Amino acid sequence: MKFSTKAIHVGQEPDPATGATIVPIYQTSTYTQSRVGEHKGFDYSRTVNPTRVALERQLASLEGARYGSAFASGMAATNAVLSLLSAGDHVVVSDDLYGGTYRLFARVFERFGLRFTYVDMTDADAVRAAVTPATKLFWIETPSNPLLKLVDIAAIASQRRGEQIVVVDNTFATPYFQQPLELGAQIVVHSTTKYIGGHSDVVGGIAITDDHAIYDQIRFTQNAAGGVPGPQDAWLTIRGAKTLALRMREHARNAQAVAEFLQSRSDVARVYYPGLPSHPQHELAKRQMSGFGGMLSFELAGPPARAFEFASGLKYFSLAESLGGVESLICHPGRMTHGSIPPEQRERRGITDGLLRLSVGLEDLSDLLDDLRERLDVTAGTRESELPSPV
Ligand SMILES: Cc1ncc(COP(=O)(O)O)c(C=O)c1O
Repeated sequence: MKFSTKAIHVGQEPDPATGATIVPIYQTSTYTQSRVGEHKGFDYSRTVNPTRVALERQLASLEGARYGSAFASGMAATNAVLSLLSAGDHVVVSDDLYGGTYRLFARVFERFGLRFTYVDMTDADAVRAAVTPATKLFWIETPSNPLLKLVDIAAIASQRRGEQIVVVDNTFATPYFQQPLELGAQIVVHSTTKYIGGHSDVVGGIAITDDHAIYDQIRFTQNAAGGVPGPQDAWLTIRGAKTLALRMREHARNAQAVAEFLQSRSDVARVYYPGLPSHPQHELAKRQMSGFGGMLSFELAGPPARAFEFASGLKYFSLAESLGGVESLICHPGRMTHGSIPPEQRERRGITDGLLRLSVGLEDLSDLLDDLRERLDVTAGTRESELPSPV
């Protein structure tokens, strides 16, 4: 079965009770048992719910895996994956990653005795040097948020020894453009809030694996800690995921054109998009991904104040956190999504005050380009001024 067929059919059999073609929203917390301990495989909805099962089967199939565990958010899925580890274990992490993931690692799991080393994972030698005898997990985000750096998944996976686990946050690329398990990873994590849900109307996450022992442990945590999505949210995510392929093709087409437009402007200092031949890892992107996605970042020339001016006055790019919906969004990573990273670390990683990130949506391309062009022209004269204080 090919990708779009899986998205529409796996886990979506007609409802056994009624024949309903669309998986029903099983809005129930519990299930009536015929005798003590005798039931139809469903006992309590924290443990298992048919709408959630349909979502888990659908998304696992898109990553070419057998097992998915859905969560109430991407962070809840990340939390469950890190719960595979114990005090004293060590994790090697990409140094460019979603700020909330950094916050969970640095401010929660460190207190429980896990150790993290952040490295530039574009450099395989740096990864090798960071490994210690206690290393149990590699956490990769590729393309990364917000600098669109790429990590060679197969190269990291080839460094794996024994029971070590390679995890890829595949939120930006989606399974349509990148298949990390095929490249040697053991777990894929998604914020399904983003492209998989696709319509900015639901928060969710999932952890996917083809390894039965890992799945058992994640499911244990899913039930024990209980960060599960409700059936309505699972249902919305299923509906969104059915059109993932269609949307991703268009997101990538629009993003490529926007990236080329921005690069052609003399008042744009730098554009980060893996589909541009000028991207330092364009060759890896072509090898590892089947498309370049809908996310890009860029740095405006001129004072940082211009980036603030630019971001707040666009017609079709809403100034908002999140990404991956049908509507275009713009964000200022330094003050928004990555505000939880200390300023000196942010600057060191290249997340400057002039950096802006776009989630390029599915609007008509000419409207998007006109919007950006007009705003670039209007803000051309912005002078250095007091920057807004940090949030
Ligand atoms: C790459 C990435 N991973 C994980 C998350 C966290 O997902 P959620 O907001 O669904 O908890 C985000 C959220 O922005 C993200 O961008």
